[in-house]
Amino acid sequence: MDAHFQAAKNVSQNAHCPYSHFAVGAVVQCKSGRCFAGCNVENASYGLTCCAERNAIFQMIASGEKEFVRIVIYTPTAEPTSPCGACRQVMFEFGPNADVISVCDGPNTLQTTVRELLPHGFGPSNLTSTGH
Ligand code: THU
Repeated sequence: MDAHFQAAKNVSQNAHCPYSHFAVGAVVQCKSGRCFAGCNVENASYGLTCCAERNAIFQMIASGEKEFVRIVIYTPTAEPTSPCGACRQVMFEFGPNADVISVCDGPNTLQTTVRELLPHGFGPSNLTSTGH
């Protein structure tokens, strides 16, 4: 098993998901080789839930890294899970050229890219023409 698959599965054990019981883990890898893990954190208000993918990316930012090149997402499912729209947008900000690998408990893997998941995405370059 790929080391990042194992790391994503391990961090999913820390998910705070008493409402959905759907424990997700994600690992982002930077060009430097540094990796950061995240799990989903739910809230009694439901809407404040943050996915594993975003929590992993925010750990990366808090650690001083700016860009990831690969994200591995583990879900406890028979088939791989594709990330939600909010996570795609955050991935586009911090890993526009990254590979996205979804793994699960079954034999299949979904291998795609951030650009494939969010074609014509809105990103930092769209703001440059405003001068801000
Ligand atoms: N979730 C993730 O963390 N990542 C995904 O890619 C799909 C959904 C979380 C959000 C919520 O805590 C639970 O899984 C059910 O949607």
